Amino acid sequence: MRKSIFVVASIAALALVGPAAAQQPIVVKFSHVVADNTPKGQAAIKFKELAEKYTNGKVKVEVYPNSQLFGDAKEMEAVALGDVQFIAPSLSKFDKFTKQIQVFDLPFLFNDIAAVDRFQAGKQGQALLRSMESKNFLGLAYWHNGMKQISANRPLLKPEDAKGLKFRIQASDILAAQFQGLNATPQKLAFSEVYQALQVGTVDGQENTWSNIFSQKFYEVQKDITESDHGVIDYMVVVNAKWWNGLSKDLQDAMKKAMDEATKVNNDVAGKLNDEAKQKIASSGASKIHQLTPEQRKQWVEAMKPVWAKFESAIGKDLIDAAVASND
Ligand code: LMR
Repeated sequence: MRKSIFVVASIAALALVGPAAAQQPIVVKFSHVVADNTPKGQAAIKFKELAEKYTNGKVKVEVYPNSQLFGDAKEMEAVALGDVQFIAPSLSKFDKFTKQIQVFDLPFLFNDIAAVDRFQAGKQGQALLRSMESKNFLGLAYWHNGMKQISANRPLLKPEDAKGLKFRIQASDILAAQFQGLNATPQKLAFSEVYQALQVGTVDGQENTWSNIFSQKFYEVQKDITESDHGVIDYMVVVNAKWWNGLSKDLQDAMKKAMDEATKVNNDVAGKLNDEAKQKIASSGASKIHQLTPEQRKQWVEAMKPVWAKFESAIGKDLIDAAVASND
């Protein structure tokens, strides 16, 4: 009798726990290093909203902006370990996993974001999304930010103006070579450390998009910004490939749909957010925005472009040619 009461009670308990347990959503963490009021920040929030909607609540997405959970140094490792499921690092930060993606770091390669978009949508660009699968990283999408501008506490109008200065760079050997070519010193630093490094003078200058220069307040500690458009900061949204491949087809499809729509939102707002950030910096009066004459621009191209030959064999000539062709 006692035994049967126990059995009945256990079945009743299971009946309660069973459906409740089945309803527990899968918690998915999305970690990134920028502010919410940037293209990536907005797109991550959109992805959360849509992924939860399309999976009917089976997935709960937690977004951690501003290096809150993991900064540059740790986020890739965190994906590999399964501590976080989604990250969207700048393309410059895949340096240690593949040299091919470094094509995006070549200075003066793309005329504008439309050209970057065409390259990413093409055969080679799409293949790069899967180029790190053996390292367990799977790219689900590219997200745009924008073209890079260069700043310091002195006007940078000619390449010689950068001589002797120390510039913060992302962890990319191409970006290091780009500044060495200007007789400047590159310093690899995590994004979360840049403001302070500029403020205390550990570094003299930096390169970034308008939205990052504005949202991280770099313009408050940099007197001069040159609208150089000399490179690009874009992102690849990556997941742990084993984790992704282990999800049901339904969940994958729903999250892919959410990702495609969030990507569209990202790419629709990126240009606007960068333009607005530029206007806000201009009207703050905190730093002066300099334009280059065509002659000055030519000098910057000549000073930076030798980097291409240096990295051509590591990246692959075909890839560089395809990227160049996307400008047409
Ligand atoms: C940087 O480190 O400068 C940027 O890549 C940060 C970002 O994610 O936009």
